[in-house]
Amino acid sequence: VSPDDMSGRHVLITLGPTREKWDAVRFWSNPSSGLMGACIAMAAWLRGAEVTVVSGPVNWWFPDEINVIKVGTAKEMFDACTDVWSQCTTGCLTAAVADFKPIPHGEGKFKKAGRDSLSVDFDTNPDILKTLGSMKRDDQQLIGFAAETSNIQESAKGKLESKNLDLIIANPINVPGAGFESSTNSVYVLDRAGRTEEWPNLPKTEIAWRIWDLLLQN
Ligand code: C5P
Repeated sequence: VSPDDMSGRHVLITLGPTREKWDAVRFWSNPSSGLMGACIAMAAWLRGAEVTVVSGPVNWWFPDEINVIKVGTAKEMFDACTDVWSQCTTGCLTAAVADFKPIPHGEGKFKKAGRDSLSVDFDTNPDILKTLGSMKRDDQQLIGFAAETSNIQESAKGKLESKNLDLIIANPINVPGAGFESSTNSVYVLDRAGRTEEWPNLPKTEIAWRIWDLLLQN
């Protein structure tokens, strides 16, 4: 039986990578599978929440009751999130958003002929999590993720504060069985009150469930 302990909440979840187009056939992206976000969305729905998923270009199945908005670029993800955030009680942003986007070459296909090197200039993308954090009301809670290769705890604390989060889930991406393209994850969790937890390597389905357990206690 579902605990139904998230009924009355409207949860926004971002997941997957973004794709930043450069020419007609090429884009800048990363290998995020979106699995962590899909597990978090399903767990919230099973526990009675209304769920809106803003999904980058990955194809997870969701029940019809979950509202899925498909996006490609970080700017599209930003627009979709800022549109719905005021109607949400809770946000959990797991997407691996591209921090930079190449300045497009143009509509056509770039021709490689006669070149032995290539440089591309990049522009910055908006930080969606930071923007939602700056708009956050007292009746809203926001969770962020931080994929790190070093200084996990200090980086997580910095991000929790600078992005005005209630909870941050930090994970190493350079250890086996964690991060991108893995079905398990090892995480360090920090909340606003300074409480920390370190969870052993666990399936992403279980991490999702534990994240909601923890948020509901806050
Ligand atoms: O600063 P950093 O990229 O490590 O922050 C990671 C967190 O911020 C994740 O929750 C990610 O979904 C979110 N993020 C975002 N928009 C960006 C960059 C990161 O929402 N442009």
